Amino acid sequence: MTSNQSLHDRRGAAVAQGVASAHPFYAARAENAELWDVEGNRFIDFAIGIAVCNTGHCHPKIMAAAKAQCDLFTHTAFQVSAYESYIHLAERLNELAPIEDARSVFFSTGAEAVENAVKISRAATGRQGVIAFTGAFHGRTEMARALTGKIVPYKAGAGVPMPAIFHADFPVPHHGVTVEAALASIQKIFKVDIEAKDVAAIIIEPVLGEGGFYQAPTEFLQALRGLCDEHGIVLICDEIQSGFGRTGKMFAIEHSSVEPDIITVAKAIAGGFPVSGVVGKESVMNALGPGGLGGTYGGNPVACAAAHAAITVIEEEKLCERSAEIGARMVERLEAIKARDDVTPIGDVRGLGAMVAFETVEEKGGNTPKPEAALAVVAKARELGLIILPCGYWGNTVRLLAPLTIPMEHLEEGLDLLEQSLEQSRVEIAA
Ligand SMILES: Cc1ncc(COP(=O)(O)O)c(C=O)c1O
Repeated sequence: MTSNQSLHDRRGAAVAQGVASAHPFYAARAENAELWDVEGNRFIDFAIGIAVCNTGHCHPKIMAAAKAQCDLFTHTAFQVSAYESYIHLAERLNELAPIEDARSVFFSTGAEAVENAVKISRAATGRQGVIAFTGAFHGRTEMARALTGKIVPYKAGAGVPMPAIFHADFPVPHHGVTVEAALASIQKIFKVDIEAKDVAAIIIEPVLGEGGFYQAPTEFLQALRGLCDEHGIVLICDEIQSGFGRTGKMFAIEHSSVEPDIITVAKAIAGGFPVSGVVGKESVMNALGPGGLGGTYGGNPVACAAAHAAITVIEEEKLCERSAEIGARMVERLEAIKARDDVTPIGDVRGLGAMVAFETVEEKGGNTPKPEAALAVVAKARELGLIILPCGYWGNTVRLLAPLTIPMEHLEEGLDLLEQSLEQSRVEIAA
């Protein structure tokens, strides 16, 4: 039998160390909310490939759609021999996005979507500057890492990132960054770093992903919309992690009344197949001429077929409603665990739909981040059979990303394992 250790040894000798894994086991197969490693160990998966498999691992309808497309053709390049499924996916995305008169274009990865959203904004405005936020994560390519609002591990060691990018404060009131302070930090950028008339875009995750599942308050998003209108700036919402039902709506920005100019999508759009996209207002999206956008694999036909099936599953199985139900149950269980005296102390518990997280803190009832406790809980959970991920600007957040198709018994099993992890990790931290 192949062991996790033997693969780990081979990996060390073959794979660049820069690509790290959160967990030291190797996947063999997965189905809905369950995953088995090469040694036959079973896990409940509350990470689902970092918010990709909202429709569960290997949803039968998505697998069937991808297999059927494989029997027809796997690649022609849309830029050479175009195909209907790409056009239809654009039609569906335009319809779903809360943007009037929308146009779409497809790529392969989230970072590529972000790169292109900025490029389109620069073309549409004739300006260079971009404002992003502290704690934001937009990817690992050169532009995307520059937009990302955290040095370690995303920028460290790779030198000074691209210029003309400025970071404002993301509002996190319970860590002392109020909406007013966050808005003031944008005004400071306009005063100190770059004139508003030179800013092409403001890019924001309506709910920070890697940054810790903090939701941008509606009044903040409305104020950003106002600033963008006032200064002719393109408002980009990065919904790569928060999209496709994760927060209880198709897009997290729909929880506010704000209409962005551009939305970037990826991850859960195709339930595990690599496709990403940029959807935006026609006047912005058509700023670049023919040939200005694309990529050999962008909108790959197998991934487009999977995306159609994934969107249909989200609609037919009412996964937005399911997301709200799962999130409410998670928050209820977490609040009950938080009240206990004999567990690793939990601070803030938050969730928008099934985008749920909690913070580990120094002491019960306190608010001082304890990042090492988050790592201990994640490690203990893995030992017990639950896959979860740490995140957060302060490093003390644990995020829960159950598939929206998870059976109730697996949801409860996962939450039981989480409770045990919080009990047992406290003992180990204390010891
Ligand atoms: C909000 C957000 N934007 C961009 C990205 C980058 O996506 P990718 O890893 O597919 O390049 C991610 C990935 O986690 C993300 O969460």
